[in-house]
Amino acid sequence: MRYNICVMPGDGIGPEIVAEAVKVLKTVGGRYGLEFAFTEALIGGAAIDATGGPLPEATVAACKAADAVLLGAVGGPQWDTLDPAIRPEKGLLGIRKALGLFANLRPARLFPELAAACCLRPDIVGKGLDVMVVRELTGGAYFGEPRGIEERGGEQVGFNTMIYAEHEVRRIARVGFETARKRRNKLCSVDKANVLDVSRLWRAVVLEVAKDYPDVELSHMYVDNAAMQLVRDPSQFDVIVTENLFGDILSDEAAVITGSIGMLPSASMGEANPGLYEPIHGSAPDIAGQDKANPLATILSVAMMLKHSFNETKAADAIEAACARVLAEGYRTGDIMEPGKTLVGCKKMGDLVVGRLD
Ligand code: IPM
Ligand code: MG
Repeated sequence: MRYNICVMPGDGIGPEIVAEAVKVLKTVGGRYGLEFAFTEALIGGAAIDATGGPLPEATVAACKAADAVLLGAVGGPQWDTLDPAIRPEKGLLGIRKALGLFANLRPARLFPELAAACCLRPDIVGKGLDVMVVRELTGGAYFGEPRGIEERGGEQVGFNTMIYAEHEVRRIARVGFETARKRRNKLCSVDKANVLDVSRLWRAVVLEVAKDYPDVELSHMYVDNAAMQLVRDPSQFDVIVTENLFGDILSDEAAVITGSIGMLPSASMGEANPGLYEPIHGSAPDIAGQDKANPLATILSVAMMLKHSFNETKAADAIEAACARVLAEGYRTGDIMEPGKTLVGCKKMGDLVVGRLD
């Protein structure tokens, strides 16, 4: 099989981590008889510098023509003062929208090898930490209209619109239920239905979709409580389904309780277009270009690509197993370093994973 992958390294540590993930893909391809063709495209600050905008037409076209997309990260201080309409982040939001990637899967799982790096008490994580956050990715306050900053009554007011149509809730709810079916059959829908109208509709639609999934145990939780429960007892969660902004916040929280945000991959899926795979962490400009970044989240993202876009489960499992082995052998990048372990750089970490692929 030959797969076309569009690679967008982006900004900051993006190019370094993506290079390691591509190296791992090439090696695993060799082992499992998969052929990959790579095209590179510009996004974020890198695209602004080269073309004046964060998401050139050519990038959208290259992504649409590919079988899957691999993204590093976008953003950095040098672009922070730009007009918000052309900030690097707009490139990321734009490509999610252009490819119709409404479902973002963010698995937060604690590698047993990293238990000591976890910031929760051992008796809490001892009960298990394996949560899948299913985040709605193309709706809510991120894209809702009207939005803006304008003058009203002699002062500036800023506003966004958190808006969901029934069909948007229905399709992400289905992803939530389907995901739960492949795991431990528990789905928690997170909303703020005690305050927000948009959440009341959300909850009603989720309840309606639930009729098709009587085998999945459904619960509802307000987002403030969910944020608290995630640190109090994460073992109660299997799959969390939630809207865009709540999912952005909760997935960072779910990530950091696993030890480091540098470990978490993600998959963004739509109806027909290629899926997009990226680490959930940012561009970390403070360590960019220093060979210090943790490439594991990006490497685990290509494992998700193999599984979700190409159905190459064996190759995906091989990558995950190789990452676990490298950790078991005591190799750590700075973000997950503990006393007594071996500190390695980004490139070395990628080489180690490559070396342990079966
Ligand atoms: C994420 C990021 C993005 C988001 C930013 C960079 C626009 O935080 O993927 O979680 O808010 O979605
Ligand atoms: Mg985020």
